Amino acid sequence: MNIKTIKKNSNKIILSEYDLIIIPCHRKNPLLPIIFEEFKIKKNDIKKLIKKTHFEGEKNKTLLLTNVFNLNIIFVSCGDVINNSSLENAFTVGAKEALRMKYKNLLVFPHIDNLKIDNYESFIVRGLIWGIYKFDNFKTDKKSSITLNIAYEKSSLSKINYGLTQGKIIHKIANIANSPANYATPLYIAKYAQNLVKKGFEVNVLRKKELIKKKCGGILSVAEGSINEPNLVILKKIGKIDTSPIIIIGKTVTFDSGGISLKPNKNMGWMRYDKCGGMAVLGLMEILSNLNINRSVIGILGIAENMPGGNATKPGDIITSFNGKTIEILNTDAEGRLILADALGIASKYNPECIIDIATLTGAVISTLGNSAAGILGNNKNLINILQKCGEETGERLWELPIYKDFIDDMKSDFADLSNMSKSGNAGTATAAAFLSNFVPSNIPWAHIDIAGMAWQTNNSETQDSGATLFGIRLLLNWLSRNNVINN
Ligand code: BES
Ligand code: MN
Ligand code: ZN
Repeated sequence: MNIKTIKKNSNKIILSEYDLIIIPCHRKNPLLPIIFEEFKIKKNDIKKLIKKTHFEGEKNKTLLLTNVFNLNIIFVSCGDVINNSSLENAFTVGAKEALRMKYKNLLVFPHIDNLKIDNYESFIVRGLIWGIYKFDNFKTDKKSSITLNIAYEKSSLSKINYGLTQGKIIHKIANIANSPANYATPLYIAKYAQNLVKKGFEVNVLRKKELIKKKCGGILSVAEGSINEPNLVILKKIGKIDTSPIIIIGKTVTFDSGGISLKPNKNMGWMRYDKCGGMAVLGLMEILSNLNINRSVIGILGIAENMPGGNATKPGDIITSFNGKTIEILNTDAEGRLILADALGIASKYNPECIIDIATLTGAVISTLGNSAAGILGNNKNLINILQKCGEETGERLWELPIYKDFIDDMKSDFADLSNMSKSGNAGTATAAAFLSNFVPSNIPWAHIDIAGMAWQTNNSETQDSGATLFGIRLLLNWLSRNNVINN
């Protein structure tokens, strides 16, 4: 795919040069850019044209009008509420429609008169860039190309640039997330992270040898069956006021076959997406590199491939995790929690202000919440509340589940401190979180986000192709921005 983005000073625009213009609507009411007036295109005339159609202005619905005032215009509704998220989505939908209909030269105006919402221009641009994303790295025929012309007003240029920066990073990370496990190996991902040194990060990649030295028995046990060695990446961005860090951990399993407790073969190919927690953290961190941040943020990726093999961990094996607790492995398919156990243990040593982990951890969260929300659990109500609020704002819903003492008891083993599977076999998402709670001291605020139902889609939708969604990046960025980490 060939994507060009061009910024154009709004007052030098010649409308007839473009084959499609994207205009957002508030219900049926188009938000026309000022330049239309200069071209003697009246809002009322456009409204009349819209009225003649069946367009109801429902959220994310589109109306294409061709050859009106010599223009092709696609209207996309934000629905009842104009906010950052509805604008972002509308432009994603518009761009995707444009691609589908093979328009080549789009014009957009991220500036909306009299709209008093902070930074909405960034959201519009981020949405647009996501809309033109196509994963075609493995297609030999990459015919489609599109040019995105972004008309700017001086006052919004820096916000447009920030949206572009985010959009481009999200494309790069989506390419890794969508890459199959024979390309996106633990080493490949570690190398990508290592490269972020150039963007001002302190990067520490713990290879297998160091993991052995550090006694990271969890992540090591997961990778035993694979010829691809595990590694654990620690990315640190030091803030201007370097106090205790905020730590964000991502499960990065490049392929989850289940190991000796092999998964059924139906749909196993999707387990290349078991790295998506880590991909959200990687993307988030790379975006942060472009921002002026006050407080330090550490991103940790626990990267491994879960395979059966002669040396693979077997059900019944007992391992010792980083913090010294022993774990009886009753199901090698419950591997994510073993990686997170080490990562949470390491994170706890930094005296962090809080820890968040994000992981495609349990199939049970899909039974519970489907593809409509991620699960959130933790030891701190405030942290959970604010994350939920941030998710509502970016359209990434988080629904809280409890960590009852019953669940903690359910994870105890007769032969080791803990088992990696509950005795009851019930409450899969909450018992997994109960297991994790053993690796974070209770005085450190911690939240666990289970994105198994949200990390990828198997079908195309109006805002998203099948493949990685990168669920979590937008909400965590929103959270960090509020948490006074970022100082724009
Ligand atoms: N990566 C899976 C969870 C998963 C399942 C993510 C489906 C996305 C879609 C995880 O490692 C896993 O296999 N969990 C097991 C745990 C069980 C064996 C206790 C599960 O949920 O079945
Ligand atoms: Mn598994
Ligand atoms: Zn897994």
